Amino acid sequence: MKIFTEKTQIQKAIQQIKAKDLSVGFVPTMGALHQGHLSLVQEAFNNNDVVVVSIFVNPTQFDNEDDLEKYPRTLEADTKLLAAFRENLIVYAPSIQDIYDGDAKAEHFSFDGLEFEMEGKFRTGHFNGVGTIVKRLFEIITPDNAYFGKKDYQQLMIIKKLVEKHHIPVTIIGCDIYREPDGLAMSSRNTRLKEDYKKAAPFIYKTLKTAKKKFGTKSANTVKEWVEKEFANHKLLNLEYFIIADDQTLKPVKRKSKKKTYRAFIAVFADDIRLIDNIALN
Ligand code: PAJ
Repeated sequence: MKIFTEKTQIQKAIQQIKAKDLSVGFVPTMGALHQGHLSLVQEAFNNNDVVVVSIFVNPTQFDNEDDLEKYPRTLEADTKLLAAFRENLIVYAPSIQDIYDGDAKAEHFSFDGLEFEMEGKFRTGHFNGVGTIVKRLFEIITPDNAYFGKKDYQQLMIIKKLVEKHHIPVTIIGCDIYREPDGLAMSSRNTRLKEDYKKAAPFIYKTLKTAKKKFGTKSANTVKEWVEKEFANHKLLNLEYFIIADDQTLKPVKRKSKKKTYRAFIAVFADDIRLIDNIALN
Protein backbone atom coordinates (compact mmCIF):
# COMPACT_ATOMS: atom_id res chain seq x y z
CA MET A 1 0.00 0.00 0.00
CA LYS A 2 1.20 3.52 -0.82
CA ILE A 3 0.03 6.71 0.87
CA PHE A 4 0.20 10.05 -0.92
CA THR A 5 -0.63 13.44 0.55
CA GLU A 6 0.21 15.53 -2.53
CA LYS A 7 -1.60 15.51 -5.83
CA THR A 8 1.61 15.83 -7.87
CA GLN A 9 2.87 12.57 -6.31
CA ILE A 10 -0.29 10.58 -6.88
CA GLN A 11 -0.62 11.92 -10.43
CA LYS A 12 2.88 10.62 -11.19
CA ALA A 13 2.00 7.19 -9.74
CA ILE A 14 -1.24 7.07 -11.77
CA GLN A 15 0.65 7.93 -14.96
CA GLN A 16 2.93 4.96 -14.39
CA ILE A 17 -0.06 2.66 -13.75
CA LYS A 18 -1.80 3.83 -16.92
CA ALA A 19 1.39 3.40 -18.93
CA LYS A 20 1.19 -0.30 -17.98
CA ASP A 21 -2.40 -0.37 -19.23
CA LEU A 22 -3.75 -1.23 -15.78
CA SER A 23 -7.26 -0.18 -14.79
CA VAL A 24 -7.90 2.16 -11.85
CA GLY A 25 -10.91 1.91 -9.50
CA PHE A 26 -11.60 4.80 -7.16
CA VAL A 27 -13.42 4.98 -3.82
CA PRO A 28 -13.76 8.54 -2.45
CA THR A 29 -14.32 8.73 1.33
CA MET A 30 -14.11 11.10 4.26
CA GLY A 31 -12.37 8.45 6.37
CA ALA A 32 -13.45 6.98 9.72
CA LEU A 33 -13.67 3.85 7.63
CA HIS A 34 -16.06 1.00 8.43
CA GLN A 35 -17.26 -2.19 6.72
CA GLY A 36 -19.55 -0.16 4.45
CA HIS A 37 -16.56 1.67 2.96
CA LEU A 38 -14.58 -1.57 2.79
CA SER A 39 -17.37 -3.26 0.82
CA LEU A 40 -16.89 -0.53 -1.82
CA VAL A 41 -13.13 -1.15 -1.83
CA GLN A 42 -13.77 -4.89 -2.29
CA GLU A 43 -16.14 -4.19 -5.19
CA ALA A 44 -13.48 -1.95 -6.75
CA PHE A 45 -10.86 -4.71 -6.43
CA ASN A 46 -13.23 -7.18 -8.11
CA ASN A 47 -13.13 -5.14 -11.30
CA ASN A 48 -9.88 -3.12 -11.38
CA ASP A 49 -6.13 -3.76 -11.24
CA VAL A 50 -5.39 -0.90 -8.86
CA VAL A 51 -7.67 0.79 -6.32
CA VAL A 52 -7.32 4.35 -5.05
CA VAL A 53 -9.08 5.34 -1.81
CA SER A 54 -9.19 9.04 -0.98
CA ILE A 55 -9.56 10.13 2.62
CA PHE A 56 -10.50 13.78 2.98
CA VAL A 57 -13.02 15.48 5.26
CA ASN A 58 -14.28 18.01 2.73
CA PRO A 59 -15.12 21.32 4.44
CA THR A 60 -17.14 22.73 1.53
CA GLN A 61 -19.90 20.11 1.83
CA PHE A 62 -20.68 20.79 5.51
CA ASP A 63 -23.39 23.36 6.18
CA ASN A 64 -22.81 23.05 9.91
CA GLU A 65 -19.48 24.06 11.53
CA ASP A 66 -20.16 21.86 14.55
CA ASP A 67 -20.75 18.76 12.40
CA LEU A 68 -17.51 19.47 10.50
CA GLU A 69 -15.55 19.93 13.71
CA LYS A 70 -16.96 16.77 15.32
CA TYR A 71 -16.59 14.61 12.21
CA PRO A 72 -14.36 11.67 13.30
CA ARG A 73 -10.80 11.79 11.94
CA THR A 74 -9.01 8.46 12.34
CA LEU A 75 -6.36 8.38 9.61
CA GLU A 76 -4.07 5.96 11.42
CA ALA A 77 -6.81 3.37 12.03
CA ASP A 78 -8.08 3.90 8.47
CA THR A 79 -4.72 3.18 6.86
CA LYS A 80 -4.34 0.10 9.06
CA LEU A 81 -7.69 -1.25 7.83
CA LEU A 82 -6.71 -0.61 4.23
CA ALA A 83 -3.22 -2.08 4.65
CA ALA A 84 -4.84 -5.41 5.53
CA PHE A 85 -6.48 -5.37 2.12
CA ARG A 86 -4.15 -5.76 -0.83
CA GLU A 87 -0.83 -4.49 -1.99
CA ASN A 88 -2.02 -2.62 -5.04
CA LEU A 89 -4.00 -0.09 -3.04
CA ILE A 90 -3.19 3.61 -3.04
CA VAL A 91 -4.40 6.04 -0.38
CA TYR A 92 -4.70 9.71 -1.21
CA ALA A 93 -5.06 11.75 1.99
CA PRO A 94 -4.51 15.37 0.95
CA SER A 95 -4.49 18.53 3.02
CA ILE A 96 -7.06 21.26 2.35
CA GLN A 97 -4.25 23.31 0.79
CA ASP A 98 -3.23 20.51 -1.60
CA ILE A 99 -6.69 19.86 -2.94
CA TYR A 100 -8.11 23.39 -2.92
CA ASP A 101 -4.97 25.41 -3.68
CA GLY A 102 -5.76 27.68 -0.75
CA ASP A 103 -9.27 28.48 -1.99
CA ALA A 104 -11.66 26.11 -0.19
CA LYS A 105 -14.82 27.33 -1.89
CA ALA A 106 -17.57 25.33 -3.54
CA GLU A 107 -18.33 25.79 -7.24
CA HIS A 108 -21.95 26.16 -8.24
CA PHE A 109 -23.53 23.28 -10.13
CA SER A 110 -26.84 22.46 -11.73
CA PHE A 111 -27.85 18.84 -11.37
CA ASP A 112 -31.13 19.30 -13.25
CA GLY A 113 -33.18 19.59 -10.07
CA LEU A 114 -31.82 16.51 -8.25
CA GLU A 115 -30.05 18.91 -5.87
CA PHE A 116 -33.25 20.57 -4.67
CA GLU A 117 -34.87 17.43 -3.21
CA MET A 118 -34.41 15.87 0.25
CA GLU A 119 -30.83 16.44 1.47
CA GLY A 120 -30.67 19.52 -0.78
CA LYS A 121 -33.57 21.06 1.15
CA PHE A 122 -32.12 20.35 4.57
CA ARG A 123 -28.38 20.84 3.92
CA THR A 124 -27.92 24.10 2.03
CA GLY A 125 -25.03 24.04 -0.43
CA HIS A 126 -24.16 20.43 0.44
CA PHE A 127 -24.24 19.10 -3.13
CA ASN A 128 -22.22 22.01 -4.53
CA GLY A 129 -19.51 21.00 -2.03
CA VAL A 130 -19.79 17.31 -2.97
CA GLY A 131 -19.73 18.16 -6.72
CA THR A 132 -16.69 20.40 -6.26
CA ILE A 133 -14.60 17.85 -4.40
CA VAL A 134 -15.59 14.81 -6.47
CA LYS A 135 -14.90 16.66 -9.75
CA ARG A 136 -11.44 17.66 -8.47
CA LEU A 137 -10.71 14.13 -7.31
CA PHE A 138 -11.77 12.72 -10.69
CA GLU A 139 -9.44 15.21 -12.43
CA ILE A 140 -6.50 14.21 -10.24
CA ILE A 141 -7.04 10.44 -10.21
CA THR A 142 -8.64 9.94 -13.66
CA PRO A 143 -10.19 6.60 -12.61
CA ASP A 144 -11.81 4.14 -15.02
CA ASN A 145 -14.49 3.24 -12.48
CA ALA A 146 -15.67 5.01 -9.31
CA TYR A 147 -17.70 3.43 -6.51
CA PHE A 148 -20.43 5.13 -4.45
CA GLY A 149 -22.78 3.68 -1.84
CA LYS A 150 -26.56 3.68 -2.17
CA LYS A 151 -26.53 4.69 1.49
CA ASP A 152 -26.21 8.20 0.01
CA TYR A 153 -28.53 7.46 -2.90
CA GLN A 154 -29.12 11.11 -3.81
CA GLN A 155 -25.36 11.70 -3.86
CA LEU A 156 -24.93 8.69 -6.19
CA MET A 157 -27.54 10.09 -8.63
CA ILE A 158 -25.93 13.54 -8.48
CA ILE A 159 -22.47 12.13 -9.24
CA LYS A 160 -23.94 10.28 -12.25
CA LYS A 161 -25.41 13.60 -13.40
CA LEU A 162 -22.08 15.39 -12.76
CA VAL A 163 -20.09 13.06 -15.03
CA GLU A 164 -22.80 13.11 -17.70
CA LYS A 165 -23.01 16.93 -17.80
CA HIS A 166 -19.25 17.52 -17.62
CA HIS A 167 -18.34 14.63 -19.95
CA ILE A 168 -16.01 13.06 -17.39
CA PRO A 169 -14.80 9.68 -18.74
CA VAL A 170 -15.51 7.49 -15.70
CA THR A 171 -18.09 4.78 -15.04
CA ILE A 172 -20.05 5.32 -11.82
CA ILE A 173 -21.02 2.18 -9.93
CA GLY A 174 -23.63 2.16 -7.16
CA CYS A 175 -23.06 -0.32 -4.30
CA ASP A 176 -25.57 -1.81 -1.86
CA ILE A 177 -26.04 -0.44 1.65
CA TYR A 178 -23.97 -2.33 4.22
CA ARG A 179 -25.72 -2.76 7.57
CA GLU A 180 -24.99 -3.71 11.17
CA PRO A 181 -26.49 -7.10 12.16
CA ASP A 182 -29.32 -5.13 13.83
CA GLY A 183 -30.13 -3.39 10.52
CA LEU A 184 -28.64 0.04 11.21
CA ALA A 185 -26.93 1.35 8.08
CA MET A 186 -23.22 1.68 8.80
CA SER A 187 -22.02 5.26 9.01
CA SER A 188 -18.96 7.07 10.32
CA ARG A 189 -21.33 9.05 12.51
CA ASN A 190 -22.55 5.89 14.32
CA THR A 191 -19.41 5.90 16.47
CA ARG A 192 -20.69 9.10 18.09
CA LEU A 193 -24.03 7.53 19.18
CA LYS A 194 -24.47 7.19 22.93
CA GLU A 195 -25.58 3.76 24.18
CA ASP A 196 -29.36 4.52 24.39
CA TYR A 197 -29.39 6.01 20.92
CA LYS A 198 -27.35 3.16 19.49
CA LYS A 199 -29.98 0.75 20.82
CA ALA A 200 -32.82 2.88 19.43
CA ALA A 201 -31.34 3.54 15.96
CA PRO A 202 -32.24 0.15 14.32
CA PHE A 203 -35.86 1.39 14.58
CA ILE A 204 -35.10 3.46 11.45
CA TYR A 205 -34.51 0.47 9.16
CA LYS A 206 -37.28 -1.55 10.84
CA THR A 207 -39.71 1.25 10.02
CA LEU A 208 -38.43 1.46 6.42
CA LYS A 209 -39.02 -2.28 5.97
CA THR A 210 -42.60 -2.01 7.27
CA ALA A 211 -43.17 1.05 5.09
CA LYS A 212 -42.08 -1.01 2.08
CA LYS A 213 -44.63 -3.70 2.94
CA LYS A 214 -47.40 -1.12 3.37
CA PHE A 215 -46.50 0.58 0.07
CA GLY A 216 -47.56 -2.65 -1.69
CA THR A 217 -51.22 -1.95 -0.91
CA LYS A 218 -51.45 1.61 0.38
CA SER A 219 -50.91 5.08 -1.06
CA ALA A 220 -47.60 6.93 -0.56
CA ASN A 221 -49.38 9.48 1.60
CA THR A 222 -50.89 6.87 3.90
CA VAL A 223 -47.46 5.28 4.36
CA LYS A 224 -45.86 8.68 5.02
CA GLU A 225 -48.48 9.50 7.66
CA TRP A 226 -47.94 6.14 9.33
CA VAL A 227 -44.14 6.68 9.49
CA GLU A 228 -44.58 10.20 10.86
CA LYS A 229 -46.83 8.85 13.61
CA GLU A 230 -44.36 6.09 14.49
CA PHE A 231 -41.65 8.68 15.05
CA ALA A 232 -43.94 11.13 16.84
CA ASN A 233 -44.45 8.34 19.39
CA HIS A 234 -40.74 7.57 19.67
CA LYS A 235 -38.98 8.93 22.74
CA LEU A 236 -35.43 9.24 21.40
CA LEU A 237 -35.53 9.57 17.63
CA ASN A 238 -36.68 12.74 15.85
CA LEU A 239 -37.82 12.47 12.26
CA GLU A 240 -36.54 15.18 9.93
CA TYR A 241 -38.14 13.82 6.76
CA PHE A 242 -39.64 10.69 5.26
CA ILE A 243 -40.23 10.81 1.53
CA ILE A 244 -41.28 8.27 -1.08
CA ALA A 245 -39.79 9.37 -4.38
CA ASP A 246 -39.27 8.30 -7.98
CA ASP A 247 -35.82 6.67 -7.83
CA GLN A 248 -34.66 8.45 -11.01
CA THR A 249 -35.97 12.03 -10.65
CA LEU A 250 -36.08 11.90 -6.80
CA LYS A 251 -39.36 13.82 -6.97
CA PRO A 252 -41.90 12.84 -4.31
CA VAL A 253 -44.49 10.43 -5.70
CA LYS A 254 -47.98 11.83 -6.12
CA ARG A 255 -49.76 8.88 -7.66
CA LYS A 256 -48.12 5.46 -8.05
CA SER A 257 -47.35 4.41 -11.63
CA LYS A 258 -46.55 0.83 -12.68
CA LYS A 259 -43.95 2.20 -15.13
CA LYS A 260 -41.86 3.80 -12.39
CA THR A 261 -39.72 2.52 -9.55
CA TYR A 262 -39.67 4.13 -6.14
CA ARG A 263 -37.51 4.46 -3.04
CA ALA A 264 -38.28 5.61 0.48
CA PHE A 265 -35.80 8.05 2.03
CA ILE A 266 -35.46 9.02 5.66
CA ALA A 267 -33.43 11.41 7.82
CA VAL A 268 -33.56 11.15 11.61
CA PHE A 269 -31.89 12.90 14.49
CA ALA A 270 -30.60 10.65 17.27
CA ASP A 271 -29.60 13.25 19.84
CA ASP A 272 -27.60 15.72 17.73
CA ILE A 273 -26.46 13.06 15.26
CA ARG A 274 -28.16 13.02 11.88
CA LEU A 275 -28.71 9.56 10.37
CA ILE A 276 -29.98 8.84 6.86
CA ASP A 277 -31.18 5.65 5.23
CA ASN A 278 -33.28 4.50 2.27
CA ILE A 279 -34.89 1.41 0.80
CA ALA A 280 -35.98 0.28 -2.68
CA LEU A 281 -39.76 -0.19 -2.81
CA ASN A 282 -40.18 -2.20 -6.02
P1 PAJ B 1 -18.36 9.07 3.19
O1 PAJ B 1 -19.54 9.42 4.01
O2 PAJ B 1 -17.08 8.75 3.88
O3 PAJ B 1 -18.75 7.87 2.28
C1 PAJ B 1 -17.87 7.39 1.30
C2 PAJ B 1 -18.63 6.40 0.42
O4 PAJ B 1 -19.00 5.27 1.23
C3 PAJ B 1 -19.93 6.99 -0.16
O5 PAJ B 1 -20.08 6.59 -1.49
C4 PAJ B 1 -20.99 6.38 0.75
O6 PAJ B 1 -22.26 6.27 0.12
C5 PAJ B 1 -20.38 5.02 1.03
N1 PAJ B 1 -20.95 4.42 2.24
C6 PAJ B 1 -21.00 4.94 3.48
N2 PAJ B 1 -21.64 4.12 4.33
C7 PAJ B 1 -22.03 3.05 3.59
C8 PAJ B 1 -22.75 1.85 3.88
N3 PAJ B 1 -23.22 1.58 5.09
N4 PAJ B 1 -22.95 0.98 2.86
C9 PAJ B 1 -22.50 1.23 1.61
N5 PAJ B 1 -21.81 2.34 1.27
C10 PAJ B 1 -21.58 3.24 2.25
O7 PAJ B 1 -19.92 10.24 0.92
C11 PAJ B 1 -18.90 10.80 1.27
O8 PAJ B 1 -18.02 10.29 2.19
C12 PAJ B 1 -18.49 12.14 0.70
O9 PAJ B 1 -19.63 12.89 0.38
C13 PAJ B 1 -17.56 12.03 -0.55
C14 PAJ B 1 -18.25 11.33 -1.72
C15 PAJ B 1 -16.27 11.30 -0.19
C16 PAJ B 1 -17.17 13.46 -1.02
O10 PAJ B 1 -16.53 14.16 -0.02
